[in-house]
Amino acid sequence: MLTQDDIKSALKAVKYPGYSRDIVSFGLIKEISVPQGGISVVMQLTTSNPEAARQIKEDSERVLKTLPGVKLVNVEVKQPAAGQTATPGAMANKNSIPGVKRIIAVASGKGGVGKSTCSVNLACALKQLGARVGLLDCDIYGPSIPLMMGVHARPTVSEDERLVPPSNHGVKVMSIGLLLDDDQPVIWRGPMISKTIQQFLFAVEWAGGGYAPVASGKTGQRDEGVAATGLDFLLVDLPPGTGDAQLSLCQAVPLDGGVIVTTPQEASLGVVRKGIAMFKKVNVPILGIVENMSYFTTPNGERVEIFGHGGGQAEAARQDIPFLGEVPIFTEIREGGDRGMPIVVSTPNHPAGKAFIQIAETLRKKLG
Ligand SMILES: Nc1ncnc2c1ncn2[C@@H]1O[C@H](COP(=O)(O)OP(=O)(O)O)[C@@H](O)[C@H]1O
Ligand SMILES: [Mg+2]
Repeated sequence: MLTQDDIKSALKAVKYPGYSRDIVSFGLIKEISVPQGGISVVMQLTTSNPEAARQIKEDSERVLKTLPGVKLVNVEVKQPAAGQTATPGAMANKNSIPGVKRIIAVASGKGGVGKSTCSVNLACALKQLGARVGLLDCDIYGPSIPLMMGVHARPTVSEDERLVPPSNHGVKVMSIGLLLDDDQPVIWRGPMISKTIQQFLFAVEWAGGGYAPVASGKTGQRDEGVAATGLDFLLVDLPPGTGDAQLSLCQAVPLDGGVIVTTPQEASLGVVRKGIAMFKKVNVPILGIVENMSYFTTPNGERVEIFGHGGGQAEAARQDIPFLGEVPIFTEIREGGDRGMPIVVSTPNHPAGKAFIQIAETLRKKLG
């Protein structure tokens, strides 16, 4: 006689389509009953994408039919209606974060294309445009936001045991890099990544306080630029690819949109298509593509297109999604990243600074 636990362990062989995590660890399973010779399972998905539901149902039924003594299998996969806010598995509801108006994910198919660089510059640019901004680093294995934002202070803990994020340049920042000791590698697996991301979303004082330690090791000092109440935008820097962090984030909160960063060459664009497909799969609106490292300007003003040109724009047109702009290669961008001084803060009038500010303006308009 099979037990509910037997069924659950069998279902662990079923991966969420396109991801490395299984459907059980995501809490999709709502009900299991084991009538004589049969199995009946009810699952709840966050996405209204019928293809994901079809595949999960098919894979689950195939796995369950191989269990001994099973004659009849029925898997029901519930989904929210298209366009509705989704209801995820483990969580009662896909909660919005109190006090946070908009959540934007910054993603790329592959590493090293300048996704974190775009995240910090867009966060600071939105702040300069008058918005209240937070920046969450979801790159658990390779957090680079603390360095790029010049934030080294640890978060403090509020009286109600919430994490108070440090800030710099008027932007609140949270990252695993602020919690772990330097150079300590993170060797967590999927479920822990998912838990951490949920805590970063819901156990961090994004909206409240207004008190935050500033950068350069000084704690207890007020960053006057930081918002005391509420956030207009929470930007989320995702790790490259389409793994656990991406899916955890999409499952945990309703994202208002995704920005995709690429470089112009085909090698980068190929994986960008996967990033686009991921957002589509989980029903996150794609706000557009940013082409980074578009060109380099020599000291005598000549434009050199190191990685080719226009790939981002062409891909945007092909996929029928907006092209947000191109950002040139500029040594100061890299230097600014290494010393915690984003180009939009240090040199807003440089073509790269201007490009970021313009992209931020477009995003703000799109999201109201
Ligand atoms: N437009 C640019 N010009 C010069 N250096 C850049 C530019 N964009 C990114 N970089 C540098 O390239 C490296 C990788 O960028 P990063 O933002 O960390 O990429 P990702 O987050 O996609 O892995 C960093 O050292 C960064 O400073
Ligand atoms: Mg990065």
